Amino acid sequence: MTTAHPTDLTGLLAHSRTLITGLQTASGAYPASPTFSAYRGYCWFRDGSFIADGVSVAGDADSATRFFDWCARVIADNRRQIDKVVTAAAHGSPLPDADMLPARFTVDGQPGDDEWWDFQLDGYGTWLWAVVEHARRHRIGVSRWADAISATVDYLVSSWRRPCFDWWEEHSEAVHISTLGCIKAGLDAALGTGLLDAAQADRAHRASRDIAGLITTGGVADGHLTKWIGSPQLDGSLSALLAPLGVINPASALGRGTIAAIDAQLVADGGVYRFRADTFFGGGRWPLLTCFLGLAKLAAGDPDGARACLDWAASTATSGGDLPEQVDGGRLLDPAAKQQWIDRWGTVATPLLWSHAMLLRLAADLGVTGVAA
Ligand code: BGC
Repeated sequence: MTTAHPTDLTGLLAHSRTLITGLQTASGAYPASPTFSAYRGYCWFRDGSFIADGVSVAGDADSATRFFDWCARVIADNRRQIDKVVTAAAHGSPLPDADMLPARFTVDGQPGDDEWWDFQLDGYGTWLWAVVEHARRHRIGVSRWADAISATVDYLVSSWRRPCFDWWEEHSEAVHISTLGCIKAGLDAALGTGLLDAAQADRAHRASRDIAGLITTGGVADGHLTKWIGSPQLDGSLSALLAPLGVINPASALGRGTIAAIDAQLVADGGVYRFRADTFFGGGRWPLLTCFLGLAKLAAGDPDGARACLDWAASTATSGGDLPEQVDGGRLLDPAAKQQWIDRWGTVATPLLWSHAMLLRLAADLGVTGVAA
C-alpha cells in the first residue's frame, strides 16, 4: 500500500478507503484480511457486504458495484444448488448443512479447499440489504442484480428457520438473532425494489413478518435482544439490527434496552467485546463492533456516544494506520486462551478490511469531514 501514514482521523479515513479499494481483487472480491493465515484468499459475504457498504457511503461507488457484481456471479454459479435447496425444503426434506451455500468463497468465487464453519445464512441477507442500499444511494438501476436478488430471496425464504453458524462462526445448533436480523433486512430491501413477482413477494413478506415475530417473542430477555432464540445472553453483533440494518427501531424500548445492556455488559474502556464467554485470541474488544454500537447510538439520538465509539475504534490503529480485528489492551476476557490462537493462526488479523469499513460508515454518518455523507 502506498498510503501516507495517518496521523489523524482524516488521514485514517483516507487510508481506510485506499486500503480497501487497493486490496479489492480484479474479480471484485474484498479479501477479509490480506495477511492473516486463516482468511487469506477468501471473501466472506458478511464482511464483503459491510465493506462494500462502507466504501459506498464514503463515495467509492464503483468499487462497491464491482463487489456486488462479484456476489451476483457467485450466486449465478450456485443457482442450481440454490434450486436444489429450495426444492428439497419445499418437499419437507431439507438438504444437510454441508449442501448449503458457504459463508465464504475464494476471491475467484470458488468454494476453496479449506475446512470452514461454512453454513451461515446472515451474509446472504446482508448482501441483499447492502446492494439495494447502494443502488438507491448512487441511483444505480438495481435490475442489474435482479436474477441474483431473486435467487437469494428464494434461498433465504426456504431456509431462514434453520439453525446455522453465527457471525462468529460458532453454535451451529442455534437460531441466532443477528442472523435473523440480517435475513429480514435483506428480504425487506428486496421487497422494496419491486423486482419480485407477486408470488415471490408474498413469500418474502410472510417470511419477514414471521422473522419479526420470532425475534420479538424468542429473541428478547430483560428488555434487550439476545444472542440466540431461547438464550438470555447478549452479543455485540446485535447493535447492527438497530443500525445500519434498521430491523429494530433504535429509539424503541427494545432498541434502547439493547444499547444499554451492551454498554453495561460488553463494553470495557470504550471498546466492545463479542460476548462474555469469548475466548478467541483471549477475547478482546473489536473496533468493528464498537462502530456498530456507535451507529446504533447515533440512530437512537446519542451523537456524543457515537463519536466516542468512533474515537475508540480509531485509537486501535497501528502506527501504519491499520485496524485490527480485535485488541488486547490488557483487558482480555480470557487471557490464558490467547496463545493457542497465535500458535494456530499467527497474530490477530491486521488489517481487517471490515474494521476499516465500519470506521468509514460511522464517520460518514457522523458527518466527519473527509467522508461523504
Ligand atoms: C469472524 C467472522 C469473520 C471472519 C473474517 C472470523 O474470525 O468470526 O465474523 O467473517 O473472521 O473476517
